[in-house]
Amino acid sequence: MAEFTLPANSKIKPGKTVKAPAGAKRPKNFAIYRWEPDSGENPRLDTFEIDLDKCGPMVLDALIHIKNDLDSSVTFRRSCREGICGSCAMNIDGTNTLACLKPIEEVKGDVKIYPLPHMPVVKDLVPDLTQVYAQYTSIEPWLKTQTPPPPDRERLQSEDDRKKLDGMYECILCFCCSTSCPSYWWNGDRYLGPAILLAAYRWIADSRDEMAGERLDELEDPFRLYRCHTIMNCTKTCPKGLNPAKAIAEIKKLMIARH
Ligand code: SF4
Ligand code: SF4
Ligand code: FES
Repeated sequence: MAEFTLPANSKIKPGKTVKAPAGAKRPKNFAIYRWEPDSGENPRLDTFEIDLDKCGPMVLDALIHIKNDLDSSVTFRRSCREGICGSCAMNIDGTNTLACLKPIEEVKGDVKIYPLPHMPVVKDLVPDLTQVYAQYTSIEPWLKTQTPPPPDRERLQSEDDRKKLDGMYECILCFCCSTSCPSYWWNGDRYLGPAILLAAYRWIADSRDEMAGERLDELEDPFRLYRCHTIMNCTKTCPKGLNPAKAIAEIKKLMIARH
């Protein structure tokens, strides 16, 4: 059987351990991936023991407590703390999810936190999203029309047509799905991945958009669309309960229908 090992400079080394103050009533360990690009050193796993009585109930609350009170150099993205902005996506307890929506009490034992898998890392828990945003730009995620709008009002949409966008417009571009997809891991330079394909279908399915044919032309490619092998990791992991695999299947159905 083939054996794969990480390059020597990517192997994760044990890091420091910070113990909770004496008298902590509910101590719990948080093992956090650390990597400092300018240090020249390997990534490491630092462990912070914190008293759960000193922070809120979510993993993001613990990270903020660690950054504020134990080690200000711990680096991660966050903004809304409400599951809306998508910036706190990371791998917690082996699953890609949003730190602000992940209750600490759901994790048995130590809470292990890594950056989203198979993405270049900027620092610690911050992935480099340059490529995935370039892919997002490539699908032209805005309403495209050829006819002029009505002179006296906006372009209208029936309630039924509007409902067709349910399950898509809610996507917050956290990329938990794309970074859980084995096809995206291996072919992320050419395969668009579930987050971007869900966004592409959101515009194809919009009754007001008049460029569905051109949008499908752009996706008609052995890599951009057809690297999806219906493995379903994407749908399983989406913290917003969306179903990118279904959107991809809908695009494939449209491709078959027009041939
Ligand atoms: S269903 Fe497609 S996009 Fe989703 S994880 Fe599987 S291969 Fe990736
Ligand atoms: S489909 Fe879900 S997991 Fe994927 S980017 Fe959108 S919200 Fe995140
Ligand atoms: S901080 Fe915005 S989704 Fe978590």
